[in-house]
Amino acid sequence: MTNQVLIFDTTLRDGEQSPGATMNQHEKLQLARQLERLGVDTIEAGFPASSEGDKEAVARIASEIRNSRIVGLARSVAEDIETAWSAVETANKSGIHIFIATSDIHLKHKLRMSRTEVIDRTGKAVSLARSLSDWVEFSCEDATRSDRNFLVEVIETAIKEGAGTINIPDTVGYSYPSEISELIRFLKSNVKGIENIILSIHCHDDLGLAVANSLAAVEAGVRQVECTINGIGERAGNASLEEIVMALKTRQDHFNLGTNIFTEQIFHTSRLVTAITGIPVQPNKAIVGANAFAHESGIHQDGVIKERSTYEIMDPESVGISKSSLVLGKHSGRHAFRERLQALGYYLTDDEINVTFRRFKDLADRKKTVYDEDLEAIVAEEVLRTTETYKLLSVTMMGGTDVVPTATVRMMVDGEECHGAELGNGSVDATYNAILKLTGRRPKLLRFAISAITGGTDALGEASIRLEEDGNVAVGKGAHEDILVASAKAMVNALNRLAYMSRSPHPSVRL
Ligand code: KIV
Ligand code: ZN
Repeated sequence: MTNQVLIFDTTLRDGEQSPGATMNQHEKLQLARQLERLGVDTIEAGFPASSEGDKEAVARIASEIRNSRIVGLARSVAEDIETAWSAVETANKSGIHIFIATSDIHLKHKLRMSRTEVIDRTGKAVSLARSLSDWVEFSCEDATRSDRNFLVEVIETAIKEGAGTINIPDTVGYSYPSEISELIRFLKSNVKGIENIILSIHCHDDLGLAVANSLAAVEAGVRQVECTINGIGERAGNASLEEIVMALKTRQDHFNLGTNIFTEQIFHTSRLVTAITGIPVQPNKAIVGANAFAHESGIHQDGVIKERSTYEIMDPESVGISKSSLVLGKHSGRHAFRERLQALGYYLTDDEINVTFRRFKDLADRKKTVYDEDLEAIVAEEVLRTTETYKLLSVTMMGGTDVVPTATVRMMVDGEECHGAELGNGSVDATYNAILKLTGRRPKLLRFAISAITGGTDALGEASIRLEEDGNVAVGKGAHEDILVASAKAMVNALNRLAYMSRSPHPSVRL
C-alpha cells in the first residue's frame, strides 16, 4: 500500500450541487485552474450528460488543464458514459466516473431494479467505459446503507470489467467513523482483486462527520479521498478538502501519509470558491474561517506571544494566510498592483489587469488605502463573475425623507440596450423593480444583506442576495463604494445565474 493519499476534488460537480452554487463555464474554468495550482490529483469537472452547458464546461476544462486528471460523472447508462467521454477525451489525463445505487432503499424506490439488474448494468457500464478510457472509477451510491454481500458482488463485477478505482460513498452522511473503518476492512478482506485497485471514500456531512469518516477510511486503508473546497455540496455538504489535507499534514506523526497538495494555495482557493459561488465560509470554520487563527482570549494571546505552539497547531502561512498587511494606495503603480494580485493568488491576463487596474485607480482616488479584500472584490466582479445575459450600464436613484424613491436603470438585456424607471418603497426596492421590469424576470427575493468589505465609511460595500425562480436558487454579489449601486450589481449577478440555470438544468435534478 502506498503512503500517498490521492485527492479527488469534486467542488465542480458535487460542490456545484449546493443550492445556489451553480457555476457557469467561465467560472468553472477559473476554479479548475486554481484547483490545478492547488495540486489536486483529480478534478471531477462536472456531469456532462446533465446539460449541454455542463458538457461544454467540462470539455473546456479538459482541453486546458494539464496536470490534474479531468473526470466526468456518468450514470451507468451508455448515453451518459459516451457523453462523459466526449467531454473529457482531449484531456492530458482523462477519466470516467460511473455510479449506480446499491442500497435496497434506492433499488426499490429510485431505480426500481432488482439486484441482478444492478449487477448486469454495472458490468455493461464499466466494460463500455473501459473500451473508451484507460481510467475508470466506479461508485456504489449509498454504499454505506447497502447489504454487504451484495456490495461485494457489485464491486467484484466492476473490478472484473476493468475499473481501476472503486469509490465507497456515504451518500446520505449516515455513518460514524468506526463503522466506516469496519466497512473498509470488510471490503479489503472479502472483495476479490481489491488489492489491485485504488479504494476511495466519498462522505457527506449530514451528521457533521464527513471529515472524521474520511480519515477513518484512510486509517483503514483507503488511498483516495473525494472532497470539496469549503466542504460545499449537496445538502449539508461534502468532506472538506482543506480539513482532510491539513489533518493528514498536521498529524503526520499519526497517519504517516502525504498528499500532493500545495497547502499554501488552500486559503486562496477557499476565497475563490466564495467569490465565485457567493457562499460565505462560517467564521469558525476550521482552516479557512476568519477566526481559525485568531486568538481572542487574553490568556491565549499571552501564550501565543510567548510561544506560538502553546495555542497554534498549524502555521497560518502553511495554508497561505499571509502575515504581511501590505496595502496599496493611489500612488501604487500597475507593477505593484499585479504583484499584489499574484501574492493573493490571482494570475490575470494583460486585458484583465487593464480592467481591474482602472477600477483600482478609481477606488484609490476616493479611498486612502486599498486593502486585499477590496482587490478581491474588484477581481471577483471584473474577472470571475461574468455577465452573459444581463449587464448593468448605469443606475441613478433618487431617495430621501421627502421624495418617493425612484430609480432609473440602463442595461444590456440579451445584447440589446434598454432603460426604464420605476418607483419603490426605498431606493433598493425601486432599483430592483426597474431591473426586473427590464429583464422580465419574477424571482422571489430570499435574502438581502449588505456589509462593508473593510472598515471606514469610504469602504467598498458588498451586497449579497439570494433569489429563487422556478425551483432554482441563485446567489448574487456586487461591490461598489455606493451600497445602492452594489445592490443593483448583486441583483444583476444573481439574475445572470438564474438565466444560466434555466438554460442548463441543475445536475442534481437528474442524479
Ligand atoms: O454522494 C454520492 O453518492 C455521489 C456519487 C455520485 C459518487 O456523489
Ligand atoms: Zn456525493
